[in-house]
Amino acid sequence: MFESQALSGSKPEQYRALVAQARSLLHGERDRIANAANLSALVFHALPALNWVGFYFWDGEELVVGPFQGRPACVRIALGKGVCGTAAKERRSIRVEDVNAFDGHIACDSASRSEVVVPLFVGDKLLGVFDVDSPELSRFDADDQYGLEALAAVFLDSLQEAT
Ligand code: SME
Repeated sequence: MFESQALSGSKPEQYRALVAQARSLLHGERDRIANAANLSALVFHALPALNWVGFYFWDGEELVVGPFQGRPACVRIALGKGVCGTAAKERRSIRVEDVNAFDGHIACDSASRSEVVVPLFVGDKLLGVFDVDSPELSRFDADDQYGLEALAAVFLDSLQEAT
């Protein structure tokens, strides 16, 4: 059974510990759905003040919701739409301090106030996005963004890992 450890220390230290937990949780498994589901659950329960953590996967035409923790979400997002579609299109993480100030933000859970979306690429190929929402304004700073990018990298690495 996987036992998650409480996080302590500075925020970068906490993310380093969480990244190590994520590596151990996903180790030896390459299934994309399984690893997305477990990583969503790990992050949702480890970090404070989150209301949605999950994945959208690119089906060749749109982003389609994948495993997540939180309230039911919008199923399909077009490239360039919302925070998720913009991160995928621009191939960069997007950190939104106030979702109401982001033009085109898609409100899946009306409780969401701030958000980070990390795009997922395998080489040049879009795989999807990792999306984390908070009910607090400006919940995420640069350390959170780097930490969430590192967690997304653990997910991408797990898909390539030899078992
Ligand atoms: N807010 C996102 C949509 C996904 S939900 O937050 C789960 C967006 O604007 O793309």
